[in-house]
Amino acid sequence: MEREDSLYRNREETPSSSSRQKDEYERTDEEKREFVDTLWNDIKDGARELVSQEPLLGGLIYSKILNQPTFEKSLSYVLSSKIANAQVLAGQWQELMFEAMQKEPVISYCAATDIRACVERDPACPNPTHCFLFYKGFHGLQTQRVSHWLWGHGRKPLACYMQSLVSETFGMDLHPAAMFGRGVMIDHATSIVVGETAVIGDGCTLFHGVTLGGTGKTRGDRHPKLGKRVVVGSNASILGNVKVADDCKIGSSAVLVHDVPPGTTIVGTKGKVLSGKYGSALRSRL
Ligand SMILES: CC(C)(COP(=O)(O)OP(=O)(O)OC[C@H]1O[C@@H](n2cnc3c(N)ncnc32)[C@H](O)[C@@H]1OP(=O)(O)O)[C@@H](O)C(=O)NCCC(=O)NCCS
Repeated sequence: MEREDSLYRNREETPSSSSRQKDEYERTDEEKREFVDTLWNDIKDGARELVSQEPLLGGLIYSKILNQPTFEKSLSYVLSSKIANAQVLAGQWQELMFEAMQKEPVISYCAATDIRACVERDPACPNPTHCFLFYKGFHGLQTQRVSHWLWGHGRKPLACYMQSLVSETFGMDLHPAAMFGRGVMIDHATSIVVGETAVIGDGCTLFHGVTLGGTGKTRGDRHPKLGKRVVVGSNASILGNVKVADDCKIGSSAVLVHDVPPGTTIVGTKGKVLSGKYGSALRSRL
């Protein structure tokens, strides 16, 4: 699909390009629809169970899920109710988000793969309904997917406004131009920063506090490119236009400024002395 390619046009440029493995997210349009519909049925089943367990959540569950006709209507309702304010009302956001999902079906397909990823990878996530209603990492990422669509359609100020609302609401700063693949899990999410030219491949997992940022020294294409199934631990920083190949693990609190070959695990920070009053003397002794 042409639009799907343009949404993730850098995918072929990530370090995963050499991989000829079967792509678990590659499906025909009919299969994608079926995938989304199956997930939607699972979400509704979970919602019915939840309301019987905890009647106090009835209002939330009926308004956000059981009274909604489709996955896309429900998702746009959930997201819009989070970021609405007095200037742009929930109904206006919902209409816009629903329009984006109608015109770009890959958005809801990606959302569905993200929910499945959370259930598969997060031991604390009992079912899709839980992720759909309660995971701010999921909410922030789906809002970014809509803002990415706006960005691609020349509505950059509105996309940036959504970015700032996501930042205020969920504490995660995801630039609208950043490219996220399918099946991405952002766990806990607080303090995540993803820069403008970052690319996050299919099946990646990012924990809270992750920075995919620039070094502050360059302009243009300046942010990290993650291949497929990369795990970036909590508070890790990957800085600059570095390529992290498929299946790498970047440990919690690591700082990475160089390319990494496939399947590598990286931990720690180097803490090198680069310059300063005693820089050269210290460097000779370290
Ligand atoms: C990097 C990581 C994937 C390594 O896992 P692993 O390959 O199974 O490595 P091990 O646990 O066997 O540890 C191997 C060595 O690396 C060290 N190590 C592991 N993670 C480290 C980290 N983040 N920073 C520094 N050292 C680390 C261990 O102490 C051990 O050192 P030793 O051999 O001297 O004893 C994992 O430790 C990690 O950081 N995961 C991120 C998870 C996360 O962010 N969780 C947040 C949940 S809220």
